[in-house]
Amino acid sequence: MYFSSIILLCISVVIKTNAKSLNLSNFSSSVPDDYITLNNGIKMPILGMGTGSKEFTRDLVYKTVKNGIDAGFRHIDSAYFYGSEPEVGSAIIEKIAEGKIKREDVFVTTKIWNTFHSSARASEAIQMSFTNLNIKYIDLLLMNWPMGYQEGPDMEPMDPYHHIIPSPIDYIDTWKEMEAAVRDGRVKSIGVSNFNSKQITRLLEFATIKPVINQIESHPTLTQKLLIDFCHQKGINVTAYSPLGEGKLMEKPDLVKIGSSHGKSTAQVMIRYQIQRGVAVIPRSLNKQHLVENFNVFDFTLTPAEMTTIDNMNRNVRYYLEQAAEKHEYYPFSDPY
Ligand SMILES: NC(=O)c1ccc[n+]([C@@H]2O[C@H](COP(=O)([O-])OP(=O)(O)OC[C@H]3O[C@@H](n4cnc5c(N)ncnc54)[C@H](OP(=O)(O)O)[C@@H]3O)[C@@H](O)[C@H]2O)c1
Repeated sequence: MYFSSIILLCISVVIKTNAKSLNLSNFSSSVPDDYITLNNGIKMPILGMGTGSKEFTRDLVYKTVKNGIDAGFRHIDSAYFYGSEPEVGSAIIEKIAEGKIKREDVFVTTKIWNTFHSSARASEAIQMSFTNLNIKYIDLLLMNWPMGYQEGPDMEPMDPYHHIIPSPIDYIDTWKEMEAAVRDGRVKSIGVSNFNSKQITRLLEFATIKPVINQIESHPTLTQKLLIDFCHQKGINVTAYSPLGEGKLMEKPDLVKIGSSHGKSTAQVMIRYQIQRGVAVIPRSLNKQHLVENFNVFDFTLTPAEMTTIDNMNRNVRYYLEQAAEKHEYYPFSDPY
């Protein structure tokens, strides 16, 4: 009797293990689990939380980052431009002091703004972000845009016609300062944001440290397949910003239908879509329940047909056009990808 129970137990363990591996092998052979390995060997959680929004006051960023860490987020996307690096850093430091996380558990991204592209200003910007965050090192530093703006106190310098006043600085100069910050240990990894394929190709000609990430806008109505494939071919991972289309895609019938078949929300479907195609994703929410919901995306799998349905929603609709800078020599959105 005792012996047959053990046999039954063993059989059931084998069946469960096989079911699990079958389930995984269906869709995830090339899909990372909950992190991406960058081209320098560093692991980055595939799901992060955004902190950039006009709705975010500094105090709200502080509370939201703490709520996000409590919800499970271990990857936080910030930027000098958002004006809240000190609050992001303080929230992390407080969670470390509480014993909730260790410094090495959390992956922190920040970005150099466009008015800091010359060597001297880029160096100054990196030091400011490093001091603002106050968390020993920056995990990932991105160049926010390939476009330099006139350097000075105004972060969006405009002429009387509301066109951005450009600076003549080449983004290669900025990149060299970013490489120096890796060498001196303040920054672990460097990457770019809003770069098109030509700009990446040119950067790769000059770079001695390859960018690990291109952070770009992507959601179901801007899938960015060509640019993502291009980046992956070059060994550069992609992070999708505005993955929920700034909250404007929640009622899309295809997404609602897919979500209801899995007992998930449209936000969860949009986040899962990026994860399943190996793209890191940084949804933003001020709402504690939404943060919990947005992190709860590792217990379901979109079918290949559902992934195709979302791929087919692409309409090349871009929310971040940065139109005031469209005459800039390095404006990234004039090329097809
Ligand atoms: N590199 C760049 O140039 C760049 C540009 C733009 C953004 N980003 C980064 O990307 C992050 C995300 O992009 P984003 O802020 O443009 O927008 P997003 O994440 O696409 O959408 C945010 C909107 O979705 C809503 N939302 C979030 N979760 C929800 C849920 N579960 N249910 C219903 N509504 C939900 C939020 O409202 P609630 O607050 O009410 O939840 C908010 O209105 C930014 O915060 C920033 O870190 C980078």
